[in-house]
Amino acid sequence: MPINNRIADFHADLTAWRRDLHANPEIGFEEHRTAAVVAAKLEEFGIEVHRGLAGTGVVGTLRGNQPGDRSIALRADMDALPMPEANNFEHASKTPGKMHACGHDGHTVMLLGAARYLAETRNFAGTVHFVFQPAEEGGGGGRVMVEEGLFDKFPAEEVYGMHNWPGLPVGQFAGRVGPLMAATDQFEIAIEGRGGHAAQPNKTIDPVVVGSQIVGALQTIASRNADPIKSVVVSVTQFHAGSAFNVIPQSAWLCGTIRTFDADLRKQAQQRLQEIAEGIALAMGGSAKVDFRFGYPATVNHAAQTEKALAVAERVAGAGNVEHNVAPSMGGEDFAYMLLEKPGAYIFIGNGPEVEGQKLHQVNYDFNDEILPVGASYWAQLVEEVLTKAA
Ligand code: NI
Repeated sequence: MPINNRIADFHADLTAWRRDLHANPEIGFEEHRTAAVVAAKLEEFGIEVHRGLAGTGVVGTLRGNQPGDRSIALRADMDALPMPEANNFEHASKTPGKMHACGHDGHTVMLLGAARYLAETRNFAGTVHFVFQPAEEGGGGGRVMVEEGLFDKFPAEEVYGMHNWPGLPVGQFAGRVGPLMAATDQFEIAIEGRGGHAAQPNKTIDPVVVGSQIVGALQTIASRNADPIKSVVVSVTQFHAGSAFNVIPQSAWLCGTIRTFDADLRKQAQQRLQEIAEGIALAMGGSAKVDFRFGYPATVNHAAQTEKALAVAERVAGAGNVEHNVAPSMGGEDFAYMLLEKPGAYIFIGNGPEVEGQKLHQVNYDFNDEILPVGASYWAQLVEEVLTKAA
């Protein structure tokens, strides 16, 4: 694999940095130690550092050895998850209840590796911003960075992101033009009926039956309302009601998630959810109140930047090792907010075989240190090719 030789030279350092971050996980907006480690390394490389964007966010700015007007931003996420780790290797989490189970420790270090190399070589024209963001896992750190002026303070024409992907072999990359990750919206439905004795259902309005009808009818959003060519997931994930064998409860409560790629379908699904819940409850004599919360928008890759990113990946990994039309995932990703502001591309880097128990967000997951120089080489090559020097 033609990874950058100079980057391969510091593979041992990258591995040590990654394991240090893995052992010291911090969750969204609490990445104080992680941010300090990142900022210290960037400064050590001679890169200008800006702290405090979105709280714990860190941005490093580096100029090439040839002047140029162009600038790009490369983004890595830094946060861990609020979950226990079941691994017992030496670098397992030292903090109970917190774990780097999504590989953001590896993402951070791949970008640091590229920053170190690019600071040594500066073989490009223009400016690169290394963006280390907090709180990808639900906190929307990417959105907060944008709202706090990421692209005003650090003007970048294009923005790039990357996620490790278990199930994609080591030494491979994958991506696609268009939607890659889904919009992740949430809903709560509060159903109000009339409680009473379970032996006298005729004197009640049973919210369990109302809720059951709603859960069943919500399946028709995907099967009857959505354009069959487009994808939507509607999952009811909680259903709470009642406290006794012989009491019909007064109320019930449901919640769940809707996943879409298409903005119109996203709106349509929200509207149908509301109509179905309220209409069914009303028809059965009760009432339903829907609280709908828009989450991350879909992560939609721009054509020119994605083609460029995958071409660069081919130069790092070899032509046969880059999938150009990977299947999108219904998972969410807050890099979406950056792609709404600037054209760019989000791609996957192979993390090796997908083993049950060791998938993303599972208790025995670990980022694969073998791929650190592969990812860092991609970042470095991307900068040198996008910010090309004049001939
Ligand atoms: Ni992740």
